[in-house]
Amino acid sequence: MENIVSMLDRPRFRLIEQDICRPLDLAEPVDRIFNLACAASPPRYQADPIHTTRTCVIGTLNLLELAARNNARFLQASTSEVYGDPEQHPQTEDYVGHVNCTGPRACYDEGKRTAETLCFDYLRTEMADIRVARIFNTYGPRMDPADGRIVSNLVMQALEKRPLTIFGDGLQTRS
Ligand SMILES: NC(=O)c1ccc[n+]([C@@H]2O[C@H](COP(=O)([O-])OP(=O)(O)OC[C@H]3O[C@@H](n4cnc5c(N)ncnc54)[C@H](O)[C@@H]3O)[C@@H](O)[C@H]2O)c1
Repeated sequence: MENIVSMLDRPRFRLIEQDICRPLDLAEPVDRIFNLACAASPPRYQADPIHTTRTCVIGTLNLLELAARNNARFLQASTSEVYGDPEQHPQTEDYVGHVNCTGPRACYDEGKRTAETLCFDYLRTEMADIRVARIFNTYGPRMDPADGRIVSNLVMQALEKRPLTIFGDGLQTRS
């Protein structure tokens, strides 16, 4: 709520708190949908992996249906994790990935892959106009300090003068 406090008294802003796993019907027309909803850091998405899969699959489907009903353009926040544990670096958009459907990250990786499948099937069947952005590690103002991903972890450790956590040999690369 702190992050949106400056918007709360704007007449054209309305906050609806809803789990996207439940269908959403709005009285007013909708012309753009940006689906950013999903637990995004490993500790968060693994805390309730079944809800993560539900959010990616059923949640995205609910919002695509809302887009189709309203003829609204739809943006899906996808992820570099659709490439899984990639065998090529950097990953190009035509790389199909190296993903494990039974591992502890699968709820997110495979969930987001299925969400993309739904988006492209809505596009192919001309039910909705969609865009997909495969986001890598993004960070910025108002980020949750306890998010659990590498950039915020390192920034918080540096600010608090704690040792920086490096997994493995520290030679990993990342786009
Ligand atoms: N930040 C990144 O580096 C990054 C990288 C790749 C993908 N993404 C994707 O971008 C989107 C936003 O990421 P973020 O970093 O802002 O994450 P965030 O954790 O800050 O925000 C995600 C939001 O989704 C909400 N949410 C989760 N499940 C929901 C549900 N079922 N119904 C309604 N809301 C739900 C959470 O409450 C939270 O407010 C996510 O879909 C994430 O997978 C982000």
